[in-house]
Amino acid sequence: MISINGNGFMFSKAELFKAYRISNKILNTPYNPRKYITYGRDIDNFDETVWNSHKTRIMFEHVKHKFLQNSELRKELLDTSSKIIVSAFPSNSVWSIGTANQSTKIDDIQKWGSNMLGNILTNLRNSIQLHISNKYLKKSSGRLVSDHNSSKKSLEQFDPTELDWDYYVGSKYHRMFAKLKLEKDSTVLEIGPGSVSKVGEGLKQYGFIGKIVLVEPELNSLQEISKKYKLLMPKATVIEMNMTLNEYLQNQCHNSIDVVVSNHVIDDMIIGKYISSKQKFTEFFQDHYTEPDIQKTSRLWEELTLDVGKRLQITEETIIEWINVMKLSKATIISAYDSYLFRVNENRYPSINHAHTLSQGVLKKIKESLELSIMKEVELEKDDVIQSTDFWICAKKI
Ligand SMILES: C[S@@+](CC[C@H](N)C(=O)[O-])C[C@H]1O[C@@H](n2cnc3c(N)ncnc32)[C@H](O)[C@@H]1O
Repeated sequence: MISINGNGFMFSKAELFKAYRISNKILNTPYNPRKYITYGRDIDNFDETVWNSHKTRIMFEHVKHKFLQNSELRKELLDTSSKIIVSAFPSNSVWSIGTANQSTKIDDIQKWGSNMLGNILTNLRNSIQLHISNKYLKKSSGRLVSDHNSSKKSLEQFDPTELDWDYYVGSKYHRMFAKLKLEKDSTVLEIGPGSVSKVGEGLKQYGFIGKIVLVEPELNSLQEISKKYKLLMPKATVIEMNMTLNEYLQNQCHNSIDVVVSNHVIDDMIIGKYISSKQKFTEFFQDHYTEPDIQKTSRLWEELTLDVGKRLQITEETIIEWINVMKLSKATIISAYDSYLFRVNENRYPSINHAHTLSQGVLKKIKESLELSIMKEVELEKDDVIQSTDFWICAKKI
């Protein structure tokens, strides 16, 4: 059980509306959460629309700093592992699920409130986990080592803004959904979400209430991401398809897709095709975020690079699958950006450079095919993408 108090939050609310009388009162009042909430309701220039557009970010910042400053609390948060965190207050169905921990209603996810605080905690936990696994890579000896830039840093010394990675990548998708003028109740097909909600963050920020079809062959990741999306977007419908893109295409599952989206999946798709058995595929992908095995990944890329015939066959298959799925959909967003994990390891494991090069090669070929068809690319600006070395396709049917 983790407790979050509202003093900083109410202070920021008052400061947002320049209600300095109230913010001073909060600062000068000995610890009393109920009083802070009462003061927070007494802001002269309060504007609900302005507040609604800021409150999640403000809450996230407060929660984040609280957990970065306190290692015991952080440990408690990380100990929740991959569970969904809920805030269980019967009287609040916005920040909480609107029911008590002991209530029987807690078992029925459909009856939950928005759980915004629980979602913030879950997102923060996931971001910290990702941050730790990226920064401290396990060597085969079992010794913990860090990358060259952060060798002496403890977690407390990292810039806290770095932790909000999924939210940040999500904001890029938000921009692209807007550029494509996606209807909020449309049908989205996401390929290879893994267990991280980057596209989901973008959809949530966009206010999405439509249908999301998730095509993910690794079952644990699919179940996890599906739960996360249902919590992030309680009004949207989430459909799970436990299969590869190729299997999805062969089944012709849906015929009215508004946008097909895939974040940073092409290198995994290529290596997934190279891993022949289903069991090995699962082993490789199920620990992808918590324990990324860079040695194993680099070994696979080394083998694939030497096996020219296989590489060409896989590349060709991948390109055809993407072109075919784009034909099913009115619009497409696909990204291939240089993975942080790969970048910091490229000197130790040069073969993983091929992952990015080959993904970009595949996306270039798909782009070339666009000119021949009825798709037209949407022009992207600097703020739409993550870094200048990114490769994106954002296109729609004319
Ligand atoms: C790195 S993970 C997820 C990337 C995630 N979208 C992100 O933004 O971080 C790649 C995912 O692609 C999935 N995958 C691999 N081959 C695939 C295929 N042929 N079709 C669909 N998904 C595939 C894996 O199971 C894995 O969960």
